[in-house]
Amino acid sequence: MLCLLYLRASESRLDQPILGDHFAAKDVARIDYDFARIHRRVRPDTNQFMVALRGAQFDAWITNYLEAHPDATVLHLGCGLNSRPFRLAASEGVRWFDVDLPQIIALRRKLYSESENYRMIGCSVTDAGWLEDVPTGGPVAIAAEGLLMYLTPPEVAELLHRLTERFDGGELFADLVSKWGPPLSKVSASGVIKWGTRDGGEITGWDARLRLIDDRSVLAGFDEIPLSRQRSLYRRLHSIPAIRNYDRVFRYAF
Ligand SMILES: C[S@@+](CC[C@H](N)C(=O)[O-])C[C@H]1O[C@@H](n2cnc3c(N)ncnc32)[C@H](O)[C@@H]1O
Repeated sequence: MLCLLYLRASESRLDQPILGDHFAAKDVARIDYDFARIHRRVRPDTNQFMVALRGAQFDAWITNYLEAHPDATVLHLGCGLNSRPFRLAASEGVRWFDVDLPQIIALRRKLYSESENYRMIGCSVTDAGWLEDVPTGGPVAIAAEGLLMYLTPPEVAELLHRLTERFDGGELFADLVSKWGPPLSKVSASGVIKWGTRDGGEITGWDARLRLIDDRSVLAGFDEIPLSRQRSLYRRLHSIPAIRNYDRVFRYAF
């Protein structure tokens, strides 16, 4: 979570950023942590673009949904320290819920305040109770960026059932890493990845209400990278199917 925050902060300092998350830069300055350790591990000069491209795709899909549904509820699952609710200019009718583990929300509360339309819920998304704090009905936009791979398939299936049962209709935005995610995470610093698939249809098989309406590689927008060396590196990575399909973003409707 702090690695992603640091990468977004780094990208925001470029002359022509893709995501331009200036909140992240302010948050890094406000959190008492040795970010030099993270700097050595995450290689911001190249990896900042992976995080920026993925974040920008989520922002674009959520914005698109909220333009059509200005009275929607947003569930931002595994929000970490993502500034998305403040980055996106959602209309006053939108009610936004940021959900993450209790210790993460405790830190988040030191950086951001709740308001009438913005709430934070400190709970595992696998616990049944947290949804009781959220108004039922719809429409709803559900974002799970960098989250579902940390849950087991039964946990994901149960979470999705609870969500699609509680709301009349909405959209789900999520990224999934390939089946190489779990073995690779054992030898890297990415955390414990429990589930990998490159098949977005696996999710629709678990919940018949969900329809896959779009999906793309996180790297697909490489042409937007403002630095030529990194742009050509990403172009080469994108041409290799195993790398192009390692992390994909999926949009579902129900
Ligand atoms: C890779 S980080 C992504 C954070 C954020 N989405 C972002 O883009 O910066 C994964 C996040 O998922 C959260 N997470 C992991 N398991 C969770 C669970 N069972 N319930 C809620 N959040 C969880 C972590 O605490 C962490 O903040």
